[in-house]
Amino acid sequence: MKVNLRVTLGSLEWPTPIGLASGTCGYGEELDRLIDWSAVGAIFTKGISLEPRRGHPPPRIWETPSGMLNAIGLENVGVEAFISEKMPFLRRYRQMHGGRVFVNLYATSAGEYARLVERLDGVDGVDGYEVNLSCPNVKEGGIAFGTTPAGCAMATRAVREKTKKWVAVKLSPASSVADVARASADAGADALSTGNTMPAMAIDVHKRVTRLSAGGGGLSGPALRPIAVKMTFDAAHAVSLPLIGIGGVATGEDALELILAGAHAVQVGTATFSQPNAAGVVRDGLLEYMRRYGFTSIKQLVGTVGTP
Ligand SMILES: Cc1cc2nc3c(=O)[nH]c(=O)nc-3n(C[C@H](O)[C@H](O)[C@H](O)COP(=O)(O)O)c2cc1C
Repeated sequence: MKVNLRVTLGSLEWPTPIGLASGTCGYGEELDRLIDWSAVGAIFTKGISLEPRRGHPPPRIWETPSGMLNAIGLENVGVEAFISEKMPFLRRYRQMHGGRVFVNLYATSAGEYARLVERLDGVDGVDGYEVNLSCPNVKEGGIAFGTTPAGCAMATRAVREKTKKWVAVKLSPASSVADVARASADAGADALSTGNTMPAMAIDVHKRVTRLSAGGGGLSGPALRPIAVKMTFDAAHAVSLPLIGIGGVATGEDALELILAGAHAVQVGTATFSQPNAAGVVRDGLLEYMRRYGFTSIKQLVGTVGTP
């Protein structure tokens, strides 16, 4: 039986349904020689801003039961260094493996999103964008774009107006998922990434200080997965766009939960920190499941969950 892992999300085909999540794979090359690139259908880069950012001072990461808290503060090299220093590896990955390259966008106003896309759109090797809606909207007092459907539509439209390339909008679990999903679809998104870290906090009771320098942070890893599954399920019932499920994926079965809930593809994030080749593990698990139950394409599984 010939099992085919290729998936089509809107206008773009990926060689496998497994992406590397923004912020957990650097700019790709950090994982070179540690990962089986043929398992990776797409790389989502670290969030890129117009100017370089140093991020928050340490401590920026704290391990929790079944998860991880982070508040990196969107450290990144800035768009110019990204294009000159980081794109060459990403172009090589694309040529060698046929995988896709999406730039995750970090901006604090609609104008900044637009300027970022203007700068990136002509760059060879960029297949599209992922709009991170967890960014603070400084014009609205620092409230994240994704918190309201209007803010989300504003960010999505700002990107859509500057590009014909593929645009995914990354929803936050701390939002009204169906409303924000509909607002993104109406504003011209090609796909939705259903899952991001969940706002959370941990405290050192002996020192009576927060574990992270920024105070709160975002929870990722296995603890997030049931939340991501529900988000994906809700988004699948609200819009007809292709979905990329994100949250706590480390195995084929984890990915299948999101696929059965309605995702056409998934992203692997925190799992890569403990197992750099987590994407390869997910690919092998998907193949094993499909052979066992007689499925030949991922499409046959998308959104097919029932109740017991
Ligand atoms: C250290 C770290 C940095 C991250 N940086 C970004 C980022 O720059 N942009 C973004 O959209 N998401 C970022 N994320 C969120 C991940 O892309 C992903 O949505 C989240 O971790 C949930 O997936 P996981 O449970 O598989 O890690 C980051 C996550 C972690 C752990």
